[in-house]
Amino acid sequence: MNAQKQAKTYSTAEVASLAQVHRDTILRWLRQKLVREPARDRKGWRIFSEEEARKIIDFAGSGYDISGVAEVAATYATFSELRALEAIDWDFTNAKTSYLTHGLHPYPAKFIPQIPNALIQELSSVGETVADIFCGSGTTLVEALTLKRNAIGIDANPLACLISEAKIARFIEGDQELLYSIVKKAQELADALSVQEESLLFPIEFKSKAECPSHQAIAFWFEPFVVEELAEILSWCRNLPTEASRKVALTAFSSIIVAVSKQDSDTRYVRRDKKLASGDVFKRFARVLSEAAKAVVEFTEIVEPRFQGQIHQTNILNAPDIGEVDLVVCSPPYPNAFSYHLYHMTRMVWLDMDQPTFKKEEIGSHRKYSNKGQNGATIDTFKNEMTTIFLWLNKHLKTNRYACFVIGDSIIKGQKIHNADVLSHVAQSCGFQEMLRINRIIQNTKKAFNPTIGKIKNEQILVLKKMRGIQ
Ligand SMILES: C[S@@+](CC[C@H](N)C(=O)[O-])C[C@H]1O[C@@H](n2cnc3c(N)ncnc32)[C@H](O)[C@@H]1O
Repeated sequence: MNAQKQAKTYSTAEVASLAQVHRDTILRWLRQKLVREPARDRKGWRIFSEEEARKIIDFAGSGYDISGVAEVAATYATFSELRALEAIDWDFTNAKTSYLTHGLHPYPAKFIPQIPNALIQELSSVGETVADIFCGSGTTLVEALTLKRNAIGIDANPLACLISEAKIARFIEGDQELLYSIVKKAQELADALSVQEESLLFPIEFKSKAECPSHQAIAFWFEPFVVEELAEILSWCRNLPTEASRKVALTAFSSIIVAVSKQDSDTRYVRRDKKLASGDVFKRFARVLSEAAKAVVEFTEIVEPRFQGQIHQTNILNAPDIGEVDLVVCSPPYPNAFSYHLYHMTRMVWLDMDQPTFKKEEIGSHRKYSNKGQNGATIDTFKNEMTTIFLWLNKHLKTNRYACFVIGDSIIKGQKIHNADVLSHVAQSCGFQEMLRINRIIQNTKKAFNPTIGKIKNEQILVLKKMRGIQ
């Protein structure tokens, strides 16, 4: 018999099983040209020669004997998965970051989607559940759903939850038209107001019975004509009849608030006058909502309905019940870096959100750390909070699975704190082990940091593995 005919070949699934990685992982390695593309059989299926299979198995780990039984220790699989992570260039220089719904709303310190994307692909499989326990604006959730995983998000910030819900919303028939009808209304009002010569205020004939919030912050942060235009838009958004259209419209509304207020920027809570003309708010809203609607249509088309996203608006320290998850990817609040309750204050007032409760619950807020005296937070405050979180996480993450934390350093009372070290140490006392630490350079346009706290140029991706359960 011809020797070539007798040579053993392997299917993709067999190679994946021998290499102890998911089939999707092999397909991705092939796409990325990390391993060689094999020949195909008549039906177009890949057939790997023994040598090609061995190379992949070697790439996944080292020297596993493919002629033997596929009995590989868990640590071996671990090694193979993490090895692929090491091959990635994590700086993602020039990567496009606002595709799909990622650009719906600004969010200080949101991470670039390429980070959760790579971690989810490597460390979980199709159909599994990925959680972001500090989901912020929902970056991980969008990536998990597009990669055919289920997604769970937690955040104490009600605004973060609204944005996340909008970003993973899927339209039903008619939603897009509902949004376009208010885009059109806003555009028409913008055009009518831009030719008005006298008062900046919104003429009575255009007005509905929209109510402005009575909070004192409104008059302090907004011009009167801006308040009128915002109130009108808000009433349209609130009256939308479907959940998805309402959430997307409210998110678009929120996204323009800082730009039309006197707040300097998304991470600077000081006043400055901005040159706005009558109709500008309507114009801006029309543009932003029209883009948001397009993005959600695209997201709806891409994500299969069987993959579900769930968002819990809650303080993580209250140990929410999220069931069991297969992977965690998150970027926790850094101690002393941001004060989301302040940066989002004007938005939360407009949206009638409970800002005082979030202010109390917010971990890491600059306000708490700059507070002098007994009530001021210290690095021990952060360590204790993280211990509570890792003990809770130990109950919800499956054993031998991963929790990835993206975090940079911070400065507390003049002292530099290596947050990755702090997290790793705390995690270890809660049944986790650090398996890999990746240092990445932050592109200065990609992450918004409070400039008064110092510029953070690097961050670490900490890959922790749950080794054992803790009672
Ligand atoms: C660095 S941000 C996460 C950004 C996110 N990765 C993204 O891409 O948008 C940290 C998040 O932790 C949230 N957070 C702070 N304290 C919290 C708490 N006690 N419980 C739950 N979430 C909290 C903040 O609201 C913020 O959204």
